[in-house]
Amino acid sequence: MISNRAEILFKETPPLVVAHFKCAEDPYHPDNNPNGYINFGTAENFLVEKELLDKIAETPALQAKHLHYTYPWGSPELRQSYTSFLKKFLNIQCIGAESVAVGCGLSSIIEILSYSIFNEGDKVLTISPLYNGFYHDFETRFKAKITLSHSLDYQGKLDLNTLRQDIEKERPRVLLINNPHNPLGYTYEANEVRSIIELAKEYEIKIIADEVYANSDFGEKKFTSFLDPQFEDINYQDSIYHLYGMAKDFALSGFKVGFFASTDKRVTQAVQSVAYFHTVSTQTQHTVTHLINDHQWCSQLFKKNKGRLSESFEILNQKLRDLGISHFPSESGIFTMIDLSSYLKEKTSEAEMELFNYLIDDLKISITPGQFFGSSELGYFRVCYAKPQKVLLTFLKRLEKIQEFR
Ligand SMILES: Cc1ncc(COP(=O)(O)O)c(C=O)c1O
Repeated sequence: MISNRAEILFKETPPLVVAHFKCAEDPYHPDNNPNGYINFGTAENFLVEKELLDKIAETPALQAKHLHYTYPWGSPELRQSYTSFLKKFLNIQCIGAESVAVGCGLSSIIEILSYSIFNEGDKVLTISPLYNGFYHDFETRFKAKITLSHSLDYQGKLDLNTLRQDIEKERPRVLLINNPHNPLGYTYEANEVRSIIELAKEYEIKIIADEVYANSDFGEKKFTSFLDPQFEDINYQDSIYHLYGMAKDFALSGFKVGFFASTDKRVTQAVQSVAYFHTVSTQTQHTVTHLINDHQWCSQLFKKNKGRLSESFEILNQKLRDLGISHFPSESGIFTMIDLSSYLKEKTSEAEMELFNYLIDDLKISITPGQFFGSSELGYFRVCYAKPQKVLLTFLKRLEKIQEFR
């Protein structure tokens, strides 16, 4: 017996999930399993595992209070530590502990927010290509509707006129901006952030700012938050809902910890109430508090992580250049999109899927076709390269064989 609601989730397993588990069941290891699958499709970071394990091992012992319930939307200690973290690492000064909700992963936080602010069919406009999880998190259960603005091109140019036209056309309730951007690794400049906030204000639409890659800006352009004090003069802060999490900058995807923050009191209260169903265990909250409280350690972690991301990206760059494959000039995040359009047998989404299947079945590498990110162009694939060098080099060696597909 299954409800109609659950039936939707069961209908079919998305190809990306199938690919993820195919790789997980037979994973590549340079010594133990050299013929296993290599997963460059899932956005996870494997570059700072030792630093994390060492620091986590120093977590102070649990006290009796950690065995029991805390506030469902996050312990006072964690929410307080998080506000200091925001001040120091995202330059967000306006958030107090009362304006924060913690949930089990950013996906949960997005679902909670979707439940809290949208009625069925309300439109969320976002810039394509988009992180494909947004479809699931906003639409599947609470039926908001994602619409796309193709205002960012594959050379890294944001076209604000197109964004304006799309707002005019779609009249969304919310503008969703992922800053820095997944899947392109694009860092919005401060003047672009300003223009986007002004645009949202002009059309009286709210902003959801997903800044989960805020401290992974390894390139020259530096991250600027939508809640940065330099935008206070626009007087639109209360209309911005801010999202962050432990999965990316901290490479702790398995911890499943996400944060919501806003100075809009009513929405924050709604989110905090719904967070009751998504509470993070007190034990995990205790560990996360220990990590984000130590600002010196966080600074070092982010520095190392950015250095390693930059190195990996450079290795990828060089090899792609040799292979004649162009890609987005990413400056942040853990991915880029590479142009494999010359390998498509024809310009169709079926041909893109055929190439995806060839890569995973024949070359045993998983990368994600642009059609899952609402890409306006066929043949672009997202590559998540935050992997140890040996794995990256093997991935690239296997990718060379794509020449045989033509
Ligand atoms: C932009 C963005 N938002 C949200 C999430 C979801 O994060 P979590 O794993 O904490 O649910 C991801 C994960 O890939 C992401 O890339």
